[in-house]
Amino acid sequence: MSRIAYVNGLYQPVSEARVSIEDRGYQFGDGVYEVCEVLDGDIIDLTRHLDRLERSLAALEIPMPMSRGALTAVFREIGRRNGLTNGSLYLQVTRGVAPRDHYFPARPVRPAIVVVAKRSDQARIAAQAEAGIAAITQPDNRWERVDIKTIGLLPNVLAKEAARRAGAREAFLVDRDGFITEGGSSNVWIVHGHTLITRPASPGILKGITRAGVVDAATALGLAVEERAFTVADALGADEVFVTSATNTVMPVVRLDGNTIGNGLPGPQTRLLRGEFHHHSERTPIY
Ligand code: PDD
Repeated sequence: MSRIAYVNGLYQPVSEARVSIEDRGYQFGDGVYEVCEVLDGDIIDLTRHLDRLERSLAALEIPMPMSRGALTAVFREIGRRNGLTNGSLYLQVTRGVAPRDHYFPARPVRPAIVVVAKRSDQARIAAQAEAGIAAITQPDNRWERVDIKTIGLLPNVLAKEAARRAGAREAFLVDRDGFITEGGSSNVWIVHGHTLITRPASPGILKGITRAGVVDAATALGLAVEERAFTVADALGADEVFVTSATNTVMPVVRLDGNTIGNGLPGPQTRLLRGEFHHHSERTPIY
């Protein structure tokens, strides 16, 4: 089955899909995106993803390209046309196409929109969750509005590539004061006993949808959640460390900069949350 993308109103094979070289996303990174998990044919937590999309677009003064209902219909159609059961849906909205000029286009242009589906290797993710992953620390040298989910991800790309070269899967970004902000493509959590600690949602992190789901699951399970900043030393001394994202939900981290965390195995709270997470999420069927 050839992969099908939605590009500015058309459903096209990915190999034939085209965007303009004057798309402001291509030239300036002037756009935003969302990644939604798809599990067993259901889109997970779509309402929260659409809420965040609206917030990101509003922050950049880009209009919604279509209504929430129409976007949901496109998501489901792309899911169906790609036979997607487990994986993710990627949505990108840019300011649109205009001759290159830093100022917003003088006359309003239509936002450009792309939606693609990606299958995930469930067995590989399960194996990683079973063993836990390694992370390294990297300086957080991003701009101050990373709460806006923009497509400008170069610092994240460089940090994650450094992690890959060091034999790790995630980079923990560290601010000037030695506090961990978040992962290159995830939110970071540490666990002490029955208490989960994660950095408060501020402009300095992306407020993850999976992060919100973990708060819901933790509350239902009677675990305490503390939103406060923590250092690399705090993470190294924690009982457990995990990261959250739409693509990996709850993923245990068992090594940081080559040091073992806890006993080097995924911890009980992390495993519990990974198992329970989807019992607390909203599901929108594709089929
Ligand atoms: N990234 N922080 C950053 C910098 C991220 O890129 C992501 C997700 C998160 C977690 O957000 P959520 O739980 O809503 O997925 C936090 C996506 C998955 C990506 O870029 O592929």
